This record gives sequence, C-alpha cells and structure tokens, in this order.
Amino acid sequence: MNNLHYHETQVTTKDKSKKNLHKPCVVWLTGLSGSGKSTIANKLERKLFELGCQTHILDGDNVRMGLNRDLGFLPHERKENIRRIGEVANLFAESGTIVITAFISPYAADRGAAREACKHEFIEVFVDAPLQTCEDRDPKGLYKKARAGLINEFTGISAPYEVPGDDALTVDSSVMTADECAEVILEELVMFQMVGEKC
Ligand code: ADX
Repeated sequence: MNNLHYHETQVTTKDKSKKNLHKPCVVWLTGLSGSGKSTIANKLERKLFELGCQTHILDGDNVRMGLNRDLGFLPHERKENIRRIGEVANLFAESGTIVITAFISPYAADRGAAREACKHEFIEVFVDAPLQTCEDRDPKGLYKKARAGLINEFTGISAPYEVPGDDALTVDSSVMTADECAEVILEELVMFQMVGEKC
C-alpha cells in the first residue's frame, strides 16, 4: 500500500443515500448450493426495487463466469473468490446501493473478512436447508455428479460448509418459501433502518 493515496470523491456516499432515500448495505447470503440463495436474492431485490430502492445482485455462478473465471473451488481459491466479492460489494455499497450477494461462502473466516472489508452495514443471512433437501432439489444436477465422483471439492459432499454463528440472520428455506424468506430479510432491513418509509 506504499505510495498510494486514497481519493475522497466530491459526491459522497451520503449524498447518494440522500438521493436514493435509503442507506447502502450489503446483504450477504450464505448457504449450500441449492439452498435457495439466488431465488431469495431475486425475490428480495424485486421487493426492494418496487419500494424504489437502488439494488444490485452479485451471484456466484455469474461472477465466476467473469471477474473470477480464473478461480476454482480449492480453499485458497474460494478465499480469493470471497475476498474479491467482498471488495466489489463494498464498491457497490459506496455507490449508495443495497447489494445482495449469493455465494456459498463456506468458510467463516472468509465471510468475516468480507464483513471487515465492508465500510457499510453488513447483514449476513444463513440460507439454511438440510443437505438432503438441497441434494433432492439438485437444480443443476451437480450433487448427482459430485456423488458420482465427477466433481471434486463439492460443498457438503467432499468440501466443508461452516455454519454461521449467532451474528447471522437464519432463514430456513426448507420450511419457508423463497418469498417468505425474502420478507423476513426485508423486515430486518426495515428494522436496521436501511429501508425507510420514504424509500
Ligand atoms: S464459493 O464456495 O466460492 O462461495 P460460489 O458461490 O462462488 O462458491 O460458486 C458456487 C457455484 O458454483 C455453485 O452454485 C455451483 O453451481 C458451482 N460449483 C461448481 N463446482 C462446485 C464445487 N466444487 N463446489 C461448490 N459449487 C460448485
């Protein structure tokens, strides 16, 4: 970081929040593949969008097709994946946006680092669904491939998932619909005053 100087912008995040009529934040969804992160992210974004909020989704598969196409699924690669997403999420938040991220982010330390990188409100949401439920859903047919030994390091099968602690909001997508999960998260945002009446 030697010889680098941070430039403050003239139009600040606060200015952008005032224009948007809501504060920026990062809603960090974590959970197994097939737990419903992307579906819930989309339901939540729709609700926020209809309230007039400035929103953006960062999604695992999409980001891995572009920015992070050089990364695989070994622990150090997942760490770098989440580090970059954490930085990108912070940049979006800096623009006054409510960012919703949908990454497995299986390691507690990596999620903690993303929280640290975020200079704005950061709400971790554990999209909880039993492995069996995710495996039964298997929307991309990946669990089947992982069980057949065709995919290595598959989260829940041959790679770990570290369950979030009490600092995360938990939504159980095996008993609630995606819409209900999104509603619970929205209520949390209202409680944190991220989204107000004027939004
Ligand atoms: S993370 O662990 O680094 O956070 P990320 O959310 O970006 O993962 O990507 C997960 C997506 O990549 C899954 O939803 C699945 O579609 C795909 N995928 C491909 N290989 C694997 C694997 N070995 N483990 C988990 N997901 C995988």
